[in-house]
Amino acid sequence: MMTANNEGLQYDIEEMVKGDREFLWHHIKPHSVFKKGEQMIVAQADGLIIKDIRGREYLDATSGGVWGVIVGFGRESIARAVYDQLNILPYYAGTVGTIPAIKYAKKLIGLLPGFGKIFFSNSGSEANEKAFKMIRQLSNIDLTRKGKFKILYRDRDYHGTTIGALSATGQDERKQDFGPFLEGFAGFPHALCYRCAFGKSYPDCNIECARCVEDTILKEGPDTVGACIVEPITAGGGIIVPVPEYYPILRQICDKYGVYLIMDEVVCGFGRTGTFWGFQHYDMRPDMVTMAKGVAASYMPLSVTAVTNEIYDKFLSDPSVEKERMNYFRDISTYGGCAAAMSAALETLRIVEEEKLLRNSRVMGAYLLEGLQTLSDMPIVGNVRGRGLFCGLEFVKDKTTKQPISEADMARIMSNVAAEGVLVGRTNTSLPGNNTIMNFAPALIATKDEIDRILAAVKAGLEKF
Ligand SMILES: Cc1ncc(COP(=O)(O)O)c(C=O)c1O
Repeated sequence: MMTANNEGLQYDIEEMVKGDREFLWHHIKPHSVFKKGEQMIVAQADGLIIKDIRGREYLDATSGGVWGVIVGFGRESIARAVYDQLNILPYYAGTVGTIPAIKYAKKLIGLLPGFGKIFFSNSGSEANEKAFKMIRQLSNIDLTRKGKFKILYRDRDYHGTTIGALSATGQDERKQDFGPFLEGFAGFPHALCYRCAFGKSYPDCNIECARCVEDTILKEGPDTVGACIVEPITAGGGIIVPVPEYYPILRQICDKYGVYLIMDEVVCGFGRTGTFWGFQHYDMRPDMVTMAKGVAASYMPLSVTAVTNEIYDKFLSDPSVEKERMNYFRDISTYGGCAAAMSAALETLRIVEEEKLLRNSRVMGAYLLEGLQTLSDMPIVGNVRGRGLFCGLEFVKDKTTKQPISEADMARIMSNVAAEGVLVGRTNTSLPGNNTIMNFAPALIATKDEIDRILAAVKAGLEKF
């Protein structure tokens, strides 16, 4: 029996390997890989360094695999905040207030000028479902918005795993085999200049990718469209940073047709892109903001749907008037009442503010992007893009035709980089024929040395390819 004793952790390595193979259904991973060999099992972590059960160390440039652990691992102050709150009051349903819920909601509203109310739930998908349900309910109870139930979404954006959120997702491989999808969702083209959907080049493009939303609204019928949901900077769809004019134009079109703009800040919120919210890179304001992942730095599950007072006020009705009796937002999530998750969120916010992590995201993000750009001369590197500590490298077979490399080649590059002791991310069964974008999202505490290590590993991995 081979046992490990890592700082108090006791486990039998072979038992863990066997248990992983026998009992766990890993997320979004082809099941047959279990037959071929041992999969990674993470045992512990500190800062940006994770250790597997055999004691091997990796620098994690993915903030926990899907970009959530924004303040790094091993934060005792978050653990303590959770422990203390669990002792005081672990939980009470969201039908009533709790002290951490009130304190955290007040803080968030302070960070969202013009916003008035916070609705808690427990995943990014769910936060988006709440937004969709609000839009759908308003299309029934608000005379000025009667029939406006449809939601527009953008190609390549991801909004979650539940059927509603997937119906609003623009990634064909994520959706494949899970249909039929819900009625009332309509897509429009993405905003990636490198593969412009209109065959144009910025700035001589009239920003067609934003203007085309008007065509979609007219096609669907302006009287039926209630909202448009977007990621400020597309994450899983390949790190797409729309041009500066994009969102002001989108906002103007939405205003023209009474369409609410929902910003999915599940990935970008809390400093990932160098500003607190991703939308702050643009001269515009959304009507609803959804958030998860970084909310409690993924130490605890918590998500939020934030709305303006204008929207909230539409749900105020007199319960004693029979025809208004049902006109409040009739929704509840059991785990939207986990008080300790809100304490973790309060502590995360304190860390982000006191350790000036927005600044670090900007400065280190610019350093990372600059370093990645030095790889542009390699024949395989088609495009380098990003904002803050959120960058992407797109690989191609041919720089002129922009034909993507194969999935097998992408897998080889990924394992080359992992062999250098650095874990990076990639587009994963999202875009048919184009899951060839490597992504970088280290915790917002990343140092220059750590960025240098990431860059060196990528360079070595590509040189070996
Ligand atoms: C932009 C975006 N929105 C929503 C979600 C869904 O969040 P969750 O997995 O917590 O349901 C994700 C998950 O990756 C995401 O990237």
